[in-house]
Amino acid sequence: MKEGLIKLPGLKGENTKMGKVTVIDHPLIQHKLTLIRNKDTGPKEFRELVDEVATLMAYEVTRDLPLEEVEVETPIQKARFKVISGKKLGVVPILRAGLGMLDGVLKLIPAAKVGHIGLYRDPDTLKPVEYYCKLPSDVNERDLIVVDPMLATGGSAAAAISFIKERNPRSIKFMCLIAAPEGVERLQEEHPDVSIFTAAVDEKLNDHAYIVPGLGDAGDRLYGTK
Ligand code: URA
Repeated sequence: MKEGLIKLPGLKGENTKMGKVTVIDHPLIQHKLTLIRNKDTGPKEFRELVDEVATLMAYEVTRDLPLEEVEVETPIQKARFKVISGKKLGVVPILRAGLGMLDGVLKLIPAAKVGHIGLYRDPDTLKPVEYYCKLPSDVNERDLIVVDPMLATGGSAAAAISFIKERNPRSIKFMCLIAAPEGVERLQEEHPDVSIFTAAVDEKLNDHAYIVPGLGDAGDRLYGTK
């Protein structure tokens, strides 16, 4: 796992200076991500692989969960052991592609509550507009993991996180499969307090704001809607 100030190609040759990016380069994740990228991988396999990678990534994203000791009686004797210390978590997929990562994360943290947020781009102002946002009622006591497979321009992730912050969560982490350097830069600029976890930082965006080489349109590939 590469952590911290990673070198982002194409960003004026500089390391990023704010926030924190973690590239989770575990071999299983990299292998599955390569299968996901393949244009010949159909929706069924694509969905299964995204689900598996989300589970594996959640393992790293939750690495800093605090522990506390409790007393347990084994068949041999009483002793003190560690358990996760009652931290309240929430998972928030950004609609619609983020839904593809939700179940994978919940496999590791089944007690997490789930919020949803959906945005569209106003055709006149080109600004992101929230069309749906439902978060756990106790969001102010929760640490959230916002999930979306592709961090492209960073525009919708940054806007989604701004809308979520209006509801005062305790903290936010952002988890994606593939990030573009432009998206990392924008998200870190607008939300330096939000740690980014990704399985890859790709080369660039193309003229249509797709990540290159990327995997194409994550939503269309998840749901076979192309
Ligand atoms: N959204 C996608 O689904 N793919 C990209 O490459 C960029 C944004």
